[in-house]
Amino acid sequence: MSVTVKDLQQYKREGRRFAMLTAYDFTTARILDEAGVPVILVGDSLANTMLGYPTTLPVTVDEMLHHTRAVRRGVENALLVGDMPFMSYHASVEDAIANAGRFIKEGGANAVKLEGAGRVVEMTRRLTDMGIPVMAHLGLTPQFVNQFGGFKVQGKTDEAAERIERDALALQEAGAFSLVLEGIPADLGTRVTSVLQIPTIGIGAGVGCDAQVLVIQDMLGLSGEKVPKFVKRYADLRGEITRAVGEFIDEVESGAFPTPEYSYGAGAAAPDGQAEKAIYGASRTPKAIKVEKVVRAPASSSIRCSSAPARIWRAIRAPSTKIVAGSRPPPWTSSSTLRWPRCTRSARTQR
Ligand code: KIV
Repeated sequence: MSVTVKDLQQYKREGRRFAMLTAYDFTTARILDEAGVPVILVGDSLANTMLGYPTTLPVTVDEMLHHTRAVRRGVENALLVGDMPFMSYHASVEDAIANAGRFIKEGGANAVKLEGAGRVVEMTRRLTDMGIPVMAHLGLTPQFVNQFGGFKVQGKTDEAAERIERDALALQEAGAFSLVLEGIPADLGTRVTSVLQIPTIGIGAGVGCDAQVLVIQDMLGLSGEKVPKFVKRYADLRGEITRAVGEFIDEVESGAFPTPEYSYGAGAAAPDGQAEKAIYGASRTPKAIKVEKVVRAPASSSIRCSSAPARIWRAIRAPSTKIVAGSRPPPWTSSSTLRWPRCTRSARTQR
């Protein structure tokens, strides 16, 4: 059962903290979803992380939708939130409705996120009334970078803190189902969280928030050296990619790759062209499974493997290979990149 906006509100009532992460592509979304992240945000931070812009301001609705659709294809369980980019909800309520509708209809998002208060409060009310759930966003809202004069912590004076609290209550009253609090003092994060019934999702807003969000590139250590104070790096993927790519370059240059293990022999059970294409990336596979043994079987043999997408099914079937149960992938692929579907029901039931 997929996570819904009602679940998040229930989490708040139960005092249950939760995580949100950004994703911008199918492969990452799939991994996060399978790892159990309950909320995935296609943030307009993709302007920086995916498109290389210095701020989030240039990204367009079409660019956001392109990525939202890809993420949608990778997400089965998480609540998927699409971030409405700068100027896609500012000119008029009609614009906001039309663009938010595109996120739901074309992008497959379950909800949208809007930065700021003021006129956004009314837009939140209208969108919510129409059945489009809204995640609000206050504090250091990056779409206001020019107004703020840079990426500066917000809510530091009593007056600014009171304003954020007032705006938070107004957005809740307008129907927002949750609120991102970014770049504010931790005690203000706690204070706003305590006055709201909807969950707060902090990023640089302290541990008192109900949930926490980070940009996936930042938390995996893929971004450059300079990251905001609130970023904790849970991995060093930049270092790991650099190491792996360096090793690949060395092995290609020395002729150490590919060994016979990664080459086709005349008698090998190599797949036809179609099946081979189907396993590039091999990320559209259900949960990890154990395949105990792969044996050659007559072409007509039937393999029962329902959760496998059609192309994986073709990859299994094409070389007349029968999966009996076990852990060995077919000889033409590297086991580290392929996770086999659980073979339970009929493979002909395709998703
Ligand atoms: O665009 C984004 O990634 C965000 C999150 C950091 C909250 O707005």
